[in-house]
Amino acid sequence: MRISEKPIAEKLKSLDVEMVPGVSLIEKTYLGIGGTTDQLILRNFETIPEVVGLLKNDNIPYRFLGGGSNVLVDDGELSWVVLHLPTSQPGMRVEGNAAYVDAAADLGGMVTFCAKRDLGGMEGLIGVPGSVGGALRMNAGAYGTQIGTHVREVELYRAATGMIEKLQGDDIRFDYRHTSFAPDDMMLRVKLELPSRPFKEILAGIRVCNEKRRSSQPLNQKSAGCIFKNPPGGSAGRMIDELGLKGHHVGDATVSDRHANFFVNAANASCADMLKLIDDVRERVRQAYGVELENEVIVWKN
Ligand code: EPU
Repeated sequence: MRISEKPIAEKLKSLDVEMVPGVSLIEKTYLGIGGTTDQLILRNFETIPEVVGLLKNDNIPYRFLGGGSNVLVDDGELSWVVLHLPTSQPGMRVEGNAAYVDAAADLGGMVTFCAKRDLGGMEGLIGVPGSVGGALRMNAGAYGTQIGTHVREVELYRAATGMIEKLQGDDIRFDYRHTSFAPDDMMLRVKLELPSRPFKEILAGIRVCNEKRRSSQPLNQKSAGCIFKNPPGGSAGRMIDELGLKGHHVGDATVSDRHANFFVNAANASCADMLKLIDDVRERVRQAYGVELENEVIVWKN
């Protein structure tokens, strides 16, 4: 979707929106898959309701992209623009046991920022790729830690009301890889409450998690982390592995040899390749185990 030559472009500029025409989402996603569209960087949170209002008025579809670590984007010319928060120098500060963090901050960066100020509890999240906002949206977790446990307040643009609102932690449901946020809500800032712990102790925990991750996950390949959620009481990775599907591929979309719930883009996989691989594997698991695996990766079709 190209809007940089349309009259709306000037209006968006006056609302502190930076337009980057013709961005390839291959460069913006961890899977390295995706088509091309105009990107709108929202430099001023306060203007977001007006920006969205303008897009709606002109019938311009939009999607909100966080860190790009858990999304599989369609190929070709995309039929929507992408909204993005600026990622340079996101705000992070600590007051007592509270951490105030912008949603655009890198998740791992936040964990270390807090650790250096003797605030722990998030060691398990250290290697989870993506932004704080993306982690909030899906309640990211690893090694016994889920971000939702520590959330006390979230400031967000709520699609339902068209306004920027603050939600208290108790008013948000955080479940396994799922929250009560609407799919088109935009996370802006979060307040977390974290336990005090000496930096050295936190660092030791971080090292353990890093080592576990390095030994079991394909960290140097393009992936969206786990493709499927684990079914209740089960492990998607173990089931796929037991079916001998490691290395199974559709074009360059491949089931990782290292962890069977990671599907990697070995070179130039298309979205269609990855979707076919996801469907193939889901079907094989359904036939063998009678379990219908649910996507963890978010698919953005045109
Ligand atoms: N397993 C296999 N073969 C494989 C992969 C795993 O047999 O190819 C076995 C393991 O040996 C282990 C069990 O399956 O006994 C579980 O594996 P693992 O410990 O790797 O955890 P997981 O359930 O596959 C979950 C999260 C990961 C998170 C790890 C560590 C989901 C879908 N995945 O993986 O999160 O890093 O635990 O806490 O919940 C993600 O969400 O993207 C993600 C990577």
